[in-house]
Amino acid sequence: MKAEEPQTVYLRDYQPPAFLIDYVDLRFELFEDGARVHSRLTIRRNPEAEPDQRDLVLNGEDLELESLVLDGRPVEGFEADERTLRIEKVADQFLLDVVTWIRPQDNTCLEGLYKSSGMFCTQCEAEGFRRITYFPDRPDVMARYRTRIEADKGAYPILLANGNPVDWGDLDGGRHQVTWEDPFPKPSYLFALVAGDLVEQRDEFVTGSGRTVELSMYVEARNQDKCDHALSSLKKAMRWDEEVYGREYDLDRFMIVAVDDFNMGAMENKGLNIFNSSCVLASPETATDATYEQIESIVAHEYFHNWSGNRVTCRDWFQLSLKEGFTVFRDNQFSADMGSPTVQRIDQVNMLRTAQFAEDAGPMAHPVRPDSYIEIGNFYTLTVYEKGAEVVRMIHTLLGPDLFREGSDLYFARHDGQAVTTDDFVRAMEDASGRDLSQFRLWYGQAGTPQLRVTDSFDAEGRSYTLSVEQSCPPTPEANHKTPFHIPFRVSLLDSQGQPLVLDAEGNTEQVLELTEQSHRFLFTGISERPTPSLLRGFSAPVKLEYPWTRDQLGFLCSHDTDGFNRWDAGQKLAIDVIQSLLNGHDTAVDSRLIDAFRETLADTSLDRAMVARMLTLPSVSYLTELTEEADVAAIHQTRQRLVDELAGALRQDLLECYHRNAPEDPYRFDPEQSAARALRNMVLKLLTATGDDQGRTLATTQFEQAANMTDELEALRALVNSPFEPEREQALTRFYQRWQHDPQVVEQWFAVQSESPWVGDLNRVTQLLEHPAFDWKNPNKIRMVVGVFAGRNLLHFQRSDGAGHRFLGEQVRRLDARNPQMSAALVRPLARWRQYAPHLRDSMRSELQNIMASKDLSRDLYEVVFKSLKQ
Ligand code: PHE
Ligand code: ZN
Repeated sequence: MKAEEPQTVYLRDYQPPAFLIDYVDLRFELFEDGARVHSRLTIRRNPEAEPDQRDLVLNGEDLELESLVLDGRPVEGFEADERTLRIEKVADQFLLDVVTWIRPQDNTCLEGLYKSSGMFCTQCEAEGFRRITYFPDRPDVMARYRTRIEADKGAYPILLANGNPVDWGDLDGGRHQVTWEDPFPKPSYLFALVAGDLVEQRDEFVTGSGRTVELSMYVEARNQDKCDHALSSLKKAMRWDEEVYGREYDLDRFMIVAVDDFNMGAMENKGLNIFNSSCVLASPETATDATYEQIESIVAHEYFHNWSGNRVTCRDWFQLSLKEGFTVFRDNQFSADMGSPTVQRIDQVNMLRTAQFAEDAGPMAHPVRPDSYIEIGNFYTLTVYEKGAEVVRMIHTLLGPDLFREGSDLYFARHDGQAVTTDDFVRAMEDASGRDLSQFRLWYGQAGTPQLRVTDSFDAEGRSYTLSVEQSCPPTPEANHKTPFHIPFRVSLLDSQGQPLVLDAEGNTEQVLELTEQSHRFLFTGISERPTPSLLRGFSAPVKLEYPWTRDQLGFLCSHDTDGFNRWDAGQKLAIDVIQSLLNGHDTAVDSRLIDAFRETLADTSLDRAMVARMLTLPSVSYLTELTEEADVAAIHQTRQRLVDELAGALRQDLLECYHRNAPEDPYRFDPEQSAARALRNMVLKLLTATGDDQGRTLATTQFEQAANMTDELEALRALVNSPFEPEREQALTRFYQRWQHDPQVVEQWFAVQSESPWVGDLNRVTQLLEHPAFDWKNPNKIRMVVGVFAGRNLLHFQRSDGAGHRFLGEQVRRLDARNPQMSAALVRPLARWRQYAPHLRDSMRSELQNIMASKDLSRDLYEVVFKSLKQ
């Protein structure tokens, strides 16, 4: 631990900034041994601030102060410590000139200005700007920026910053400069700078109002042929935001840069988005369909932030979901429009239920709008992003698309250029719709996943049907007692043919029931036979649902429900019930109804093939673990594997036929049709190989050798690796590496295929991978793909009963902490869930957390996660 206890920051302590900055004039001198940053700030007292705040307090970390000049005179009375600089009793208005010296080449935490593969780049969200210069580094201080960058012209021909270039030219000593001006006031976290030897891929976009926007993507020369997909995704996103939200782009140019070393996926800096290479570069030979899909949505996400985040930004970091929840909702809608809405929803909910529900049930649980934090970097969470998006989605459901759009228009119009709160967002929705969302606001302030308990009864004589719903929510660290949530509960009632019954005079066959009390009874009349309820359609709220389903009902819904999401979910529920009954000894044989349901799904040619692929995927070990108290991972894994074996054995012929029916099309295109066919075929291949089927082996090795795109090649590799064919799987891994060792993004996949695999990814293997020449402790992607994937997805080996997996993770976390605290705090998370596991696993996980706690010089980031995980 650090000498001083890390301090907690509370939302209730928020105060408006004492000083505002109108203009920031920056000059960067970039050298190999460091960078000098000249900053001139035009400062004035905030009329809204408390009048007794006379001192100017600026944030700054790891800076060497070279000079400090106020209105032309060197400042004498100032105090500086590790984190702040204070100048006493300043005037109401003044100019401050600050010169700092920083060392980007030694910056390993990848916040502030750092170097990655020889280029300079920045990452300022959330609090990175204070590692560049002294500044009131908080999002409610919005300023206009001018940025002059000076560097060696040979090594750094490209010099970029936010906005438009306004001046450029050569300097002495082989150096040059480019000056950029951003006309839009912005918070410091949106500042960006890039200097490097990059090539530019250009495109353009004509906005709805007829302005031409220049689009540029900057990458290292070797990646020049990997830009097309990102650029075309960008243009789709720009068009979509005009059509669906009425939002036009506002600058004359939009730039995207790819960097190899990046802590997150991408960053929405104004006019200059910076991306993790793995989230933006793609070609058919090197990227899978999943990557193509991910790039399309991340490019859109960052672009959408231009309005939801940049033009209207957050008042403070407790409001993070204001921009992230809304923007994830927007990118989800976009992805749904680009492909299959049902499949998009399935993937989204699957992730939410597996990972966000786990977070909400663990020691790091926090509301979508947290009340406190030690390190804000720890709150870029699934709760803020994904649950935050669900909350916005519920508003959309309650208001309907038209009123929601009016609310969004009002929000942007009312708050353009401001730093606001989630409450302002909800108020705009209320004002535009006339609806009262005061109870709904609890979704922002209360953590935990609500649980709905539903029962029903049918009265044949009275021809009526009653649904009873009770809600509850388990305690979470911020509160034991929860007030009932306002929950949109979308339902239909299906007759014995699977037809939804008409529920009202307007002929609707679906209703959104609004739950506001702890319990409700809903009466449906004029019902002549006992219906099968289709509940929480489309996953209309992020809740856990309990209803006494029979397996016959689930089988029926799995083949008949007219809501695609619920159809998939019924199959999942059936599989979960079967697995759990095998686990607890209720069943000894696999229920044939599950096999029949799978067979029927495989034969159903009316279904979207991407949907069939999802329906054939059994719930993951992670999700099954999440559903189990005192989870014994090995037993869960074994039982799941038994089901795979039996299904694949029983459906062998159907699977083989399906594989051949879906032969690949040439040339590769990333479109919904083609990628659905690949998804299904590769799913089938995985089922065949997992059981050791000889024909499966032949198909997989042939596909591996002949594949003409990365999707088919990598999935064949994955199928082999997750099979009992020992020589083949090692040979394939060797071949693959030989083929692709020059391409970092493909090598990342190669790492992940091994570390996620219950078949090859044991502790020995992941330890070897850390020693592999392609592994690099400086590169977050590599660390994530080996350590993160192992602990997050390969539960069989990570949860080894002797605790060696836990110790392995603890060791890597400690080794990383001094270098990159954001990463160490992210990697340690799987240990936080220790209470979920069987006693022997639980004890060993906790003792590893205690080991970490006892180590010296913990970062604030890691301290917060470990401390809260151990707290009672
Ligand atoms: N704001 C980024 C996004 O979600 C994520 C991010 C956060 C990136 C912090 C870097 C640092 O779009
Ligand atoms: Zn975002």
